[in-house]
Amino acid sequence: SNSNQIFINGKSYEVDSWTNVTPKIISYIGKNLHLQKSHPLSLLRERITNFFYFHYKNNRGNPLFSVYDNLYPIVTVEQNFDNLLVPEDHVSRNKSDCYYLNSKYLLRGHSSAHENELIQSGLDNFLIFSDVYRRDQIDSSHYPVFHQVEGVRLFLRHELFSLNPDAEGSIDVFEKGVRTETKQEVHTYDAARVVEYSLKSSLTALVRHLFGQKVRWVDAYFPFTHPSFELEMKFNGEWMELLGCGVLEHQTLVKAGVEDKIGWAFGIGLERLAMILYNIPDIRLFWSTDPGFLNQFNVSDINTNVKYKPISIYPPCPNDISFWLPGNADEFSDNDFYDLVRTVAGDVVEQVNLVDKFYHPKKKLYSRTYRIVYRHMEKTLTQEEVNKVHRLVEEAAERSLEVKIR
Ligand code: PHE
Repeated sequence: SNSNQIFINGKSYEVDSWTNVTPKIISYIGKNLHLQKSHPLSLLRERITNFFYFHYKNNRGNPLFSVYDNLYPIVTVEQNFDNLLVPEDHVSRNKSDCYYLNSKYLLRGHSSAHENELIQSGLDNFLIFSDVYRRDQIDSSHYPVFHQVEGVRLFLRHELFSLNPDAEGSIDVFEKGVRTETKQEVHTYDAARVVEYSLKSSLTALVRHLFGQKVRWVDAYFPFTHPSFELEMKFNGEWMELLGCGVLEHQTLVKAGVEDKIGWAFGIGLERLAMILYNIPDIRLFWSTDPGFLNQFNVSDINTNVKYKPISIYPPCPNDISFWLPGNADEFSDNDFYDLVRTVAGDVVEQVNLVDKFYHPKKKLYSRTYRIVYRHMEKTLTQEEVNKVHRLVEEAAERSLEVKIR
């Protein structure tokens, strides 16, 4: 085998200085939890799809939105960033945030990576359900692979103003104007407000359909929408962010060959929604193959109000690891260590937290201390078992991160 190539599904990718995808991460490709029968993410997919099918029909009474739920997760830098106007120096492109196969290809970091190709193919109304990949911290609500639903809706002028037939002909969508907080320079104020209203009322209705809960809107920023918003919902007494959305930047449509439409897009993380909806306390549970988990979601009616019941709670086992960074310390990122822990210890790790860092002026070395919380989801871990895994983590860190255990 050629060690300078990565093979995935029969295709080879040239390894270069951008390559940071691990075999562990590659093993998630094709798992498609959102398509697995009786999986909570699959139930949620069906409920969201039904909402859009039921609420949006074309003039023949058929569903307006098309659904894509099996698009290939390896995308180009162009799809994930350039087409969406993500600036060249934007942090979301960093190696420390994404899983790159090489400088040209990466595992998609969001479903928005497919907007361009679907719009280009002529679609005006579509949903995308997909697995997305991001390097991030380790805790009960973060996992390097999660799932999103993306929605896009585009309008021609007569579609936008069809509620008021008198307005047709008198209200324009486009103008050569200025960008303000509420609109882009190419859009008229009226068009931008109607699209914003369509977007917000769709999403408020969706959240009410799923949760029957109060929501609020806050302003946000995304490179490919303006204006942009986030929707928050009260959960355990606190406002929690559920989704990002906005009026599509006209330039993203132009890049897809569409000049005469205006529209909106949104993106929702499915795990977070499912954790609230079904009382699922830990994101690792979505990957459980234990029938004690999956059987609880084996319902004949997808609208059943399932509340997950943990079989029992096992104790957490915190263990600290401290090391000196190698000479080129500025190349080290916390996410490098988190990925290593994932690779070596897998799902017995519940959390990893940076608890201390300092510079030793005499030794001229940087130190890091992380607390790794080990907790098995289905049994109590013995200290002996924990020590064994912890030692493997230490050894792997010395070997592949070139750190020195203190
Ligand atoms: N893709 C964005 C994210 O993953 C969410 C988003 C989608 C925002 C569509 C605006 C429009 O954070």
